[in-house]
Amino acid sequence: MISLAVNETIARAVEVLRENDHGDYTIPTKGLYPFQWNWDSCLTALGLAHYDEARAWTEIETLFAHQWPDGMVPHIVFHVLNDSYFPGPEVWRTNRPTATSGITQPAVAGFAVRRLFDRAKDKKLAAERARALLPKIDAWHRWFYENRDPRGEGLVAIIHPWESGRDNSIDWDDAFERVPTEGVEPYTRRDTLHANPAHRPTKAQYDRYLWLLQHFRALGWDNAKLHDASPFQIVDPGFNAILIRSTADLADLAETLGEMEIADANRSRAKKGLSAMERLWSDAHGQYLCLDRAMGKLIDSASVGGILPVFSAIPKPRIAAIAATIERIAGKARYIVPSHDLDDPRFDAKRYWRGPVWLVVNYMIADGLAASGHTQVAHRITRSSVDLIAESGFAEYYDPLSGEPLGGGRFTWTAAMVIEFLKSER
Ligand code: GLC
Repeated sequence: MISLAVNETIARAVEVLRENDHGDYTIPTKGLYPFQWNWDSCLTALGLAHYDEARAWTEIETLFAHQWPDGMVPHIVFHVLNDSYFPGPEVWRTNRPTATSGITQPAVAGFAVRRLFDRAKDKKLAAERARALLPKIDAWHRWFYENRDPRGEGLVAIIHPWESGRDNSIDWDDAFERVPTEGVEPYTRRDTLHANPAHRPTKAQYDRYLWLLQHFRALGWDNAKLHDASPFQIVDPGFNAILIRSTADLADLAETLGEMEIADANRSRAKKGLSAMERLWSDAHGQYLCLDRAMGKLIDSASVGGILPVFSAIPKPRIAAIAATIERIAGKARYIVPSHDLDDPRFDAKRYWRGPVWLVVNYMIADGLAASGHTQVAHRITRSSVDLIAESGFAEYYDPLSGEPLGGGRFTWTAAMVIEFLKSER
């Protein structure tokens, strides 16, 4: 019985992936996000690999085919014309052969490629495809530390909330006060046509997203200038943990493939990042916090960004403390892991990254906890994730209190994560 239900759920997840498959890349969902998104694609590849390994490699290769000459991998590739999304290529004006956005997203590719490689049934194919991606991912990692850590502190900053992947997190609120809105060109949002406006970022936030975009555009998207010129420079522990995990995974993969230079460079990035991460720890919250680099101080905001570091090789006592924090949260929320602390008055169960549960984040947290022996908490997260889709379908995100599906529907990376959860549970 159980395995029948599991098979049926996997089949439904595959249907979602196929529906959003455009041949050599997958869109996150129809209407709301009709192009290729960076970290969506890398995580989606893991789901694709369960039924088509070659197609999974293609997903990541397509993304890297649009890497910038300086090494950056953009957060959106606008493969086709489609006016159901704003801001489109006419606003970004990045001047690339295929239009892309001008900022990046969490560097999950190194992790994804290693996982694809390790699990591959077709080892020859995997070695060939991984070998070709290796120097490109390495160039992206180098780009991060050169451009987003210009003073060599070991941790990189995001310069736009969209880079974090957690667009409207409470973490950014204070720093966002410093981002002006004067001179923002008139615009019409499209996201609120496809999803309930009460589940989306506010207009005040959109104005600031666009101010930053226009500011960077006026600097010619020159990454050598953008970090220092941005009034918004945040060191996000979750973002850094993903990058650190990817550098460590890329180092292992490079070593397996005999690429020692790439292996050494990435191993030292991971080492430096892990020791710098300690500066972001908060005993009071039992998790890490963001650092406002422009102000030089930690941001008092307990979000899932500070829980995500379990995805990297942080010290064991830190992992244990975070596992305990998650247990505490699980006593208050029906579904875990909410994107923000429920006791914070700014918590909002339905608004995007200000409270809802996201399955991709659950996947990375559960992966890190399981790898370090916290299997019970990891299992609890996996259960919550599977219960959510059983009750509410393949939504973009979910209310942690009621389980209500929120945002876009028939969502690609949610489906990919469900396949991952169910296949690895068996
Ligand atoms: C939203 C999410 C971001 C994701 C994108 C496409 O912007 O905040 O993390 O990559 O949608 O799904």
